[in-house]
Amino acid sequence: MERLDKFLADSGAGTRSQVKQLLKQGRVTVDGKPEKDGSRKIDPGLQTVCLDGTALGGRYRAVFLMNKPAGYVTATEDPREKTVMELLPPQLRHLDLKPVGRLDKATEGLLLFTNDGELLHRLISPKSQVPKRYYARHEGTATEQDIDAFAQGLTLADGTQCRSAKLEPIGPGESLITICEGKYHQVRRMMAARNLTVLYLERRQEGCLTLGELPRGQVRPLTQQEIELLEQGESEK
Ligand code: URA
Repeated sequence: MERLDKFLADSGAGTRSQVKQLLKQGRVTVDGKPEKDGSRKIDPGLQTVCLDGTALGGRYRAVFLMNKPAGYVTATEDPREKTVMELLPPQLRHLDLKPVGRLDKATEGLLLFTNDGELLHRLISPKSQVPKRYYARHEGTATEQDIDAFAQGLTLADGTQCRSAKLEPIGPGESLITICEGKYHQVRRMMAARNLTVLYLERRQEGCLTLGELPRGQVRPLTQQEIELLEQGESEK
């Protein structure tokens, strides 16, 4: 038996104070009956707890979007460097979130986290074709030949073959790059292959998701609709 409010928080329904509000608002039911008392003891093995009509399984599927700052490595732990995990607020630490793919230490911008291993593997699989759009400041200025080379599928310095990608120069030394794969240091290496050394890199979009107004260093949960769109984008390709 455990307290209902603890079960709700551990299921990812929200922080302790958000859970209090959810209970007060009558959005929680136990075995079909509205329950407002967070101190009530429940047996998650025998009873069904619902939030807004959806059953909580004790560990719900969570997907979060971070606006990653430079200076953090994308890893769950690292002996020397600061990791993106340190940027997750303490109330999310129990959710067992893992970064989806990786951004380099110096790269900023959109980074997803989830506790759903299956979604994670689908999104980072070599078969995944979710488009990822980056803003780069770089040496030189991209030309028509560079745009064509990206569209044809570049061969990197070590012989790695890239899929067709989109290069959009937006000003002197500034471009948007859209790729549908995630090889190691891919954007930097693609730009280097065209003598356009990257000086600054930010991921701005992944599938239908953008950074929006999310401040650097902050995270927000994806809505159910955003999760569905992300999955659809995934399966359509
Ligand atoms: N490509 C890179 O070179 N670095 C990143 O962090 C992401 C894509």
